[in-house]
Amino acid sequence: MKAEKFYSEGQHQWFMVYDQEESRVVDSNVFALQVDNDTLLCDPGGFEVFPQVFSALVDVLPPSTIKQAFVSHQDPDVASSLPLWNACSPQITWHTSKLWVGFIRHYGALEANIQGIPDEGAELLMGSARLQIIPAHYLHSSANFHLYDPQAKVLFSGDVGAALLPVGHSAFVERRNLESASAFDAHIKHAEYFHKRWMPSNAAKRDWCERVAKLDIDFLCPQHGAIYTGENVKRFIDWFDALDVGRAIA
Ligand SMILES: [Fe+2]
Ligand SMILES: [Fe+2]
Repeated sequence: MKAEKFYSEGQHQWFMVYDQEESRVVDSNVFALQVDNDTLLCDPGGFEVFPQVFSALVDVLPPSTIKQAFVSHQDPDVASSLPLWNACSPQITWHTSKLWVGFIRHYGALEANIQGIPDEGAELLMGSARLQIIPAHYLHSSANFHLYDPQAKVLFSGDVGAALLPVGHSAFVERRNLESASAFDAHIKHAEYFHKRWMPSNAAKRDWCERVAKLDIDFLCPQHGAIYTGENVKRFIDWFDALDVGRAIA
């Protein structure tokens, strides 16, 4: 995997770790926010890919700076690395839905400091940054959150926006081509089945689209696939809004 810095303003920096080498497990991204020499991980990833994630991350920041981890939901590709990170840094404070705390402890590390997020969301403080934990319930998990950084205009969107891309994919949906509609159309083919099958609720989807359309977003960062930037952010929200989800019932 590779680590790429995609936002930098003074002591406020965002990194993406992406393009997994192991293809038997679903390709996943890990995001890291460093503010004033403290680091927060977003969806730190699966047990199996921990060595890849760790080695890519140490290229760009010292692991001793990792103080917090945000876990959007309970899935193994999101959080099964918890005991390994905790062994490296018992100082990490973990944040996940209060509904998932007791389940996530099944991954191990009973002594880890896991804070439960209430259903309505919360604020998460990181150095001088004030991040917003945004409810995204049922997308796809029953208790699910996204993380918004108003300074960098980054929305970490968990499984929303996910695309299953071939090995060697880019970090961005498309930048070379000025975020053209055709680049988006080519990308979104890799996202369509995932959203139709994994997202269970049109009502939850509608609520999310309304909530997120009000945010100022430069980077929409999913846990699988590539980052949506510029015009592609609105294109994605409009595409998702129009999609009929929960298809396995049909
Ligand atoms: Fe998931
Ligand atoms: Fe996922």
